[in-house]
Amino acid sequence: MTLSELKSADSTLALLRDPYRFVSRRAAELGAHVFETRLLLRRTTCMTGAEAARVFYDPTRFQRDGAAPPPLQKTLFGQGGVQGLDGEHHRQRKALFLQINHPNRVEALAEAVTQEWERAVADWMAAGQIDLYPQVQLLLTRAVCAWAGVPLPQAAVETRTRQLTALFDDAGDIGLGHLRSRAARKAAERWAADVIEQIRSGQLSVPDLSAASVIANYQEPDGQPMSPRIAAVELLNVLRPTVATAVYITFVGHALDANPDWRERLASGDQGEDRAFIEEVRRHYPFFPAVTAIVRHDFEWQGHRFPKGRRALLDLYGTNHDPRVWEEPSRFNPERFLDEEPDAFAFVPQGGGDPAVHHRCPGEPISTRLMDVALDQLARRMSYSPLEPGRSVDFGRLPALPGGGYPVRLLGAGDR
Ligand code: HEM
Repeated sequence: MTLSELKSADSTLALLRDPYRFVSRRAAELGAHVFETRLLLRRTTCMTGAEAARVFYDPTRFQRDGAAPPPLQKTLFGQGGVQGLDGEHHRQRKALFLQINHPNRVEALAEAVTQEWERAVADWMAAGQIDLYPQVQLLLTRAVCAWAGVPLPQAAVETRTRQLTALFDDAGDIGLGHLRSRAARKAAERWAADVIEQIRSGQLSVPDLSAASVIANYQEPDGQPMSPRIAAVELLNVLRPTVATAVYITFVGHALDANPDWRERLASGDQGEDRAFIEEVRRHYPFFPAVTAIVRHDFEWQGHRFPKGRRALLDLYGTNHDPRVWEEPSRFNPERFLDEEPDAFAFVPQGGGDPAVHHRCPGEPISTRLMDVALDQLARRMSYSPLEPGRSVDFGRLPALPGGGYPVRLLGAGDR
């Protein structure tokens, strides 16, 4: 076995044990940014760093059709959605998400989330003590459904929150959690397809610019609407990751506790540095470990052969911590975002490149704006004390979270 080839070893267990750091650690051991191994019994080329990201996002070299591991298609992604499309078909479907996430619509969602947050604080104060992560899931589900034109009766809030959460929070599990996530995918697709059919038949009337309306009325390149099932997958591609922003919001809380000087600075500031803090949360903390693609045609890069059909995996967490780009990468330091725009292939918490062209997440304006709302609430408006402020992040969990969640005790309303 050459140093850069670990062909005989299947690294699935090593990856599951340390999903965020497996690739960068192995790459560092090998002194390479590309290496081969086997994952889920399939030969896979692992890549890490900004230069590798630039190659990975070149659509002449890589395609996404057939790239997602089947267990994730049955849970996190669903089948037939934008994630697996290529070329013109991908660009057109992607435009749908950029329309849904138009800046005016992002502001409308931020307002809905702020209202839900303020309502929730009153309940949290009555309860005295809460775990922020599940509570934020609930309020985000309420807000995003109202915003997206998806009816959500009060009695269904908990069930739908649980289902949307299981799509991302249980998807990386290999045991019971995986089965829960598969069941949630089936139930959530039935629910979303039903909403699409009701809009199309005129039984349900929703605002024109809402996500449900835009998706229900979207026409594929052949002039046909998407099937209700695929439309459901795309509607869930809006609802699920918006609720998943609860993970980043939990990390905003964790980062404020871990960096009291920054809490102080933000609390007394004019919000001008909020975004730098949020970007550093997205760089520093682990969330989405990696993305996959398939080699389109044989090519070579940095002396490494990429044969047609090979699955490649780009390490997002490791790229965000690459010491060639980031000074003291493991230090939480929002100042690195104060003056400079990060490079689109070096800062990749939600994928790299241009969201209109590449597979980069179209939801960054939503997740960052909802993190703004949360930061404002946590640093300036709410009065609370974390019950376990020193808890370290559990890197073995997918998605990673502070071990044991993020319990807080409400002390009273702040300066609202
Ligand atoms: C919670 C924070 C979020 C994280 C960590 C996240 C992360 C990601 C990542 C890593 C990708 C894959 C990029 C790639 O394949 O190259 C992605 C794609 C995607 N995200 Fe997000 N995302 C988040 C929020 C959102 C939101 C709020 C939305 C929509 C409202 C959204 C919709 C999508 C869609 C539709 C894709 C597929 C894009 C494509 O294949 O072209 N995401 N996201």
